[in-house]
Amino acid sequence: MHQIAVLASGFGSNAAKLMDYFQNHPQIRVALVVSNNASARVLTKAGERRIPVEVLPGPAWENREKLLKVFENYQVETIVLAGYMRLLPPYFVKAYRNRIINIHPALLPAFGGKGMYGMHVHRAVIESGAHKSGITIHLVNEQYDEGEILFSKSLDVLPEDTPESLAKKVLELEHRYYAPVVENYILHGPDMKISD
Ligand code: GRF
Repeated sequence: MHQIAVLASGFGSNAAKLMDYFQNHPQIRVALVVSNNASARVLTKAGERRIPVEVLPGPAWENREKLLKVFENYQVETIVLAGYMRLLPPYFVKAYRNRIINIHPALLPAFGGKGMYGMHVHRAVIESGAHKSGITIHLVNEQYDEGEILFSKSLDVLPEDTPESLAKKVLELEHRYYAPVVENYILHGPDMKISD
């Protein structure tokens, strides 16, 4: 079994999709859900599915050996970020080089970087007058939103779209594509064969 840890800070709808997608998967399993936030709703979602959780707030990441041990204890091979709001420390990115995946709710490299999360992204897209937005699934390196892009999918931004309506459409794409892209990357590497 290839064991995944899903890291999330908030609601966890993408995390829930990942947990469900891999629930009866023959090769891949969500072995652990991690949050930096003890009251994140994603922890309840994991509990309902009997998936182990760890709460690791900011200071816990300062103790490198102890922190890495948590992931080793669950034999985690791939880290999947699903609305995780903190920058991972460089030692962690190094330990899991090319094995950390993130999803961004817009088409990178535009509309990425520090502070570009949640509704900030959708507001920026609408204000820019862009005709397209979408999702980008990418590997994580030491900079926000700059790792190798594995997959992107675009959608039309309509004249009547608001940040809220755009957020809803983008989230639907995330729910549809994140788990299959993670699966494809783990099983076959960065060449994506994802059907619509
Ligand atoms: C998603 O839009 C994702 O792209 C971003 O954070 C949001 C998480 O939403 N990184 P949820 O917690 O999965 O519902």
